[in-house]
Amino acid sequence: MSVAMADLRFPPGFLWGAATAPVQNEGSYRESAWWTWEQRPGAISHGDRSGVGCDWWANAEADFDLAHRLGLNAMRLGVEWSRIEPDEGRIDDAALQRYRQMLQGLRARGMEPMVTLHHFSDPLWFVRRGGWLSHQAPAFFRRFADLVADALGDLVALWVTVNEPMVYVRDGFLEGRRPPGHRGLLSALVAARNLLLGHAEAARALRRRRPGAHVGIANHLLHFDPHDPRRSGDRLGARLLDWMFNGWPLAAQTSGKIKPPYGLGLRTHTLLANSVDFIGLNYYSRVRVRLTTGGHTDFLVWTLVPLDPSAARFDPGAEGFMGEVYPEGMYRALRRLAAFGKPIYITENGIADRADRLRGRFIVDHLVQVHRAIAEGVDVRGYFHWTLVDNFEWTDGWQLRFGLVEMDPATQARRPRPSAAIYAAICRANAIPADLLAEPR
Ligand code: BGC
Repeated sequence: MSVAMADLRFPPGFLWGAATAPVQNEGSYRESAWWTWEQRPGAISHGDRSGVGCDWWANAEADFDLAHRLGLNAMRLGVEWSRIEPDEGRIDDAALQRYRQMLQGLRARGMEPMVTLHHFSDPLWFVRRGGWLSHQAPAFFRRFADLVADALGDLVALWVTVNEPMVYVRDGFLEGRRPPGHRGLLSALVAARNLLLGHAEAARALRRRRPGAHVGIANHLLHFDPHDPRRSGDRLGARLLDWMFNGWPLAAQTSGKIKPPYGLGLRTHTLLANSVDFIGLNYYSRVRVRLTTGGHTDFLVWTLVPLDPSAARFDPGAEGFMGEVYPEGMYRALRRLAAFGKPIYITENGIADRADRLRGRFIVDHLVQVHRAIAEGVDVRGYFHWTLVDNFEWTDGWQLRFGLVEMDPATQARRPRPSAAIYAAICRANAIPADLLAEPR
């Protein structure tokens, strides 16, 4: 006997969006470290290039129309520092104008913009000056935030200073597989600290210039679970990695303390303390941690191992993911973040699934977990799906497809996947309609 199900309703005013990033949607800009990186043979899988991305620099508006037709009422997009400040101190007013136009375009369609200042991409001049390894980095970033706030702030209420600082640190400063290509624990520790201090400077700049600005960090929360919970070595590794990747940056942006191993944690950085108005959550998956003696390890003596073999998986090939589909992790993450007492935006959640076999179900199952957290009192204000249209997936190039809409980078032709209709039904209803809960997808 089947039990009749009701729609799962979301709070009034809930934001339903998609998340994007400048390099991925506009293509990398010549004055950015990403452009230089892309030119190196073998840097990007299959020799791919970002090209014009999804052609957003010329025509983001076509995708805004598409999103609007799907019923989205919000869009997360970034501004590219290297376009706005191509040389140190030289500001490109035309670039700022183009971003104004995009933001006005969103507002005209009744869509709330959320603007990211830093999404894995730095201007070349900044990298030449030492980038995030330099103690000057936070001041350079503050100057950038000042000018973006002046030029665009009348159109924006929601700001993300830094996207996934710890993913950037891991890939660009610990493992060296993305620009700026540093490898080593010391560079990772220094960059993490400077990124958080840069965030704090930018957050203050935004609020000073635009009282009422609502500012956060998009934190990638990756669950590290012990491979064998009975083994203390696995448990220790999981706790250590969780602290270094998840716990530390959350503690820093709220308490203002730069705790070990990134700093001594003796003093409170007043700018960093309570420097976020909301917590941004990018949630994708989980990994398991195993103590390993001898052979390959991923971090010190620990290895990250693929998980539950029966679980559905992302398409293979994602460098940064093991790819287990784990919807309950969304609930766990939200419960954990609720402890900080701030509103939460889900700033990213999505799956690499070119054939769209799993995406519809993935969206519904993750949103059920969001609803569960909200029902228990967690203050979640919006959900931004990663992503609207297939975009340039960093060193994985065009191989991994995260879009609700399929896009051929050679022709720019778009074709909504079936999951786009599922997401649209949810956005329009501000609820997960009961029929989506009941049906296998
Ligand atoms: C990043 C995006 C990326 C997505 C999927 C996140 O880590 O913020 O830029 O495309 O994951 O890999």
